[in-house]
Amino acid sequence: MRLVLVGPPGAGKGTQAAFIASAESIPKISTGDIFRANVSEGTELGKLAKQYMDAGDLVPDSVTVEMVRNRLAEEDAVRGFLLDGFPRTVPQAEELGAALQATKRPLQRVVNFQVPRADVIRRLSGRRSCPKCQATFHVEFAPSKKGNACDRCGEMLVQRSDDKPEAIETRLKVYEEQTAPLIQYYAHKRLLSELDASGSMDEVFEALFGVLAPYSAI
Ligand code: AP5
Repeated sequence: MRLVLVGPPGAGKGTQAAFIASAESIPKISTGDIFRANVSEGTELGKLAKQYMDAGDLVPDSVTVEMVRNRLAEEDAVRGFLLDGFPRTVPQAEELGAALQATKRPLQRVVNFQVPRADVIRRLSGRRSCPKCQATFHVEFAPSKKGNACDRCGEMLVQRSDDKPEAIETRLKVYEEQTAPLIQYYAHKRLLSELDASGSMDEVFEALFGVLAPYSAI
């Protein structure tokens, strides 16, 4: 399966991407996760990305495209991949299309997560993440059984710096201006499936699984 998930910040892409990647045994390639790992390791890429991420802006296309191209060339992505958070601009989508065409592995599906703005804000405001194992929780919808510590590894959970109110506002604006045009772009290419992602995590998973069934390798 070669798949892209698009949708506003906090729509639940990362949550569902983890389920699908595990069910299909394909890598979940999240540009946000790659940038955050670089930030915590203090790499040059991380230092550059942090300035943009904290403000809620996009990291420049030139940096992001090269990073994804290299990741897609890795062995585990040969039999399929799930891209979460990439592409996020039309130029990124064009570069991705060209890279996949060159290796004769075109995209099979792009799923657009539709969630009302009020729900997105509620999901982002209550999200808590584990800085060590990257597990994601929600204070209301998916609380950790260990309170403020991670269920999986025991590390103290944190709120992402871009989940603060000012950054959320910027991210939603940037999404409308720069990412939403991808919906038309992929609809024209007949690759787009719309998904009502406003229900519970289980409901969304079931609906997504139905959309992806024709492309499943299992
Ligand atoms: P990134 O990490 O990709 O952030 P995002 O797209 O804004 O998406 P989020 O991770 O915020 O949300 P999500 O849809 O994955 O929701 P989640 O499943 O966590 O990018 C961060 C930054 O990196 C960008 O702002 C940019 O600076 C940079 N960047 C990344 N990619 C880039 C690119 N291609 N180009 C340039 N810059 C780039 O769910 C959210 C919360 O809701 C969680 O707490 C979860 O538990 C909960 N939840 C999930 N589903 C449900 C549900 N059905 N019901 C109730 N709660 C739910």
